[in-house]
Amino acid sequence: MNEKTMKTSFPPNEIQVSLKINDKKHSLTLDSRTSLLDALREHLYLTGTKKGCDHGQCGACTVIMDGKRQLACLTLAATCEGAKVTTIEGLAKNNELHPMQDAFVRHDGFQCGYCTPGQICSAVSLLEEAKNGEASYVTADVRNISEELKLSEEEIRERLSGNICRCGAYNNIVQAFKEVHSGDDEMPTWKSATEEQMRRAKKNYQLPEHQ
Ligand code: FES
Ligand code: FES
Repeated sequence: MNEKTMKTSFPPNEIQVSLKINDKKHSLTLDSRTSLLDALREHLYLTGTKKGCDHGQCGACTVIMDGKRQLACLTLAATCEGAKVTTIEGLAKNNELHPMQDAFVRHDGFQCGYCTPGQICSAVSLLEEAKNGEASYVTADVRNISEELKLSEEEIRERLSGNICRCGAYNNIVQAFKEVHSGDDEMPTWKSATEEQMRRAKKNYQLPEHQ
């Protein structure tokens, strides 16, 4: 089959999508199979949103869509007609960081920073979920859930558990979230493990002996 025939047999699978990204309207011509993640990164060059696993496992691609957190790698751009999307690039306003970005910096909530845009978009949406009184897997009594929830540490960890951080900045991320959510700006304190804790850890995680 020559090139001309191929072009005739496989017409471009194009669609038009209009969406509002970071308060700016965009009209995109895309292959209908394009994910929102690729539309943001490859077509609009908004590379703040990160591609980690590209199949819904790591949370690196989290954006805020119509007020809810959304995995951009699992979202077809074609389904986003008219949607309002906020990426990490849209959180700071007038040269002022969003309070969550500011808290992440002050609490050292990142190391390499690759997961950070997704973590921050999740955390910002989680503030709204708490305000609206939305339940999570660990909410004790879902019948009596109230608005303006003050989230416990267990709740925060559970609700942010869809965002994986390979650097392990989790404790600082929780501290950053707590500060913005409830004003608790306690910094983490670090102590060396006691001899008893070390003994237990060694017993629980015995390494295989060398052959
Ligand atoms: S890149 Fe989307 S969840 Fe990993
Ligand atoms: S800070 Fe490196 S992956 Fe989270």
